[in-house]
Amino acid sequence: MRNLKRAFVSVSVSALVAAGCATVADKTVTQEDLKIIKASFRENGQAKLDRLDQDEAQRLCSNAPPATIAKADAERVEKMNLESIKYPADGRLMGDWQQGERIAQTGVGKQYSDNPATPSGGNCYACHQLSKAEISFGTIGPSLYNYGKLRGTSVEMQRYTYGRIYNPQAYSACSNMPRFGHNGILTEQQLKDVTALLLDPKSPVNQ
Ligand code: HEC
Repeated sequence: MRNLKRAFVSVSVSALVAAGCATVADKTVTQEDLKIIKASFRENGQAKLDRLDQDEAQRLCSNAPPATIAKADAERVEKMNLESIKYPADGRLMGDWQQGERIAQTGVGKQYSDNPATPSGGNCYACHQLSKAEISFGTIGPSLYNYGKLRGTSVEMQRYTYGRIYNPQAYSACSNMPRFGHNGILTEQQLKDVTALLLDPKSPVNQ
């Protein structure tokens, strides 16, 4: 499971990484550069070349070091991403934390060698501490231990948490976190389940 976690991260952020490699601090990525990047990859199974097509957030964050991006540009991209979040039609944002823990532990999905019919994992532990019991976790993201205990489970907090997992670029234009809903990595039910993992008082995250 551990090596799968790492492998999934490299694929799920592959477009970002590819763009990042082409970025030179004082140079904008040109159409010519993008052609060269595209020519360096080939499609394989579900891993299609459209993963290299950048949207506005990725372009903004590839063309300059994130720290140098104008506040107004970052805010424009965040607003656009925030408006594109699709919240569940039934209005319920919290699912089953036990399923959420499984999703957080699983790093399988979206690689050319994965069966596209098998649900993907969220691989959250690759970047975050969540429960105390799991001691193998990455530190690219902040610790989420006691997330719900510290913040409560108000509707606003549920919406923030669901939205943040759905599309982190809505809150931080150049986020390094995968866009789990926006990019169709997790289903609506899976997004509800990981939201419950973070917020449900019974979840090990809050023990
Ligand atoms: C590739 C690394 C990576 C993965 C995988 C990842 N995250 Fe994150 N996450 C981050 C980073 C980095 C941040 C810090 C803020 C930012 O850059 O968006 C973050 C921030 C967050 C926040 C906001 C924390 C706060 O203080 O408000 C939540 C909630 C979150 N992640 C949940 C998750 C969940 C749930 C998963 C799994 C479905 C997950 N993350 C997977 C990197 C990751």
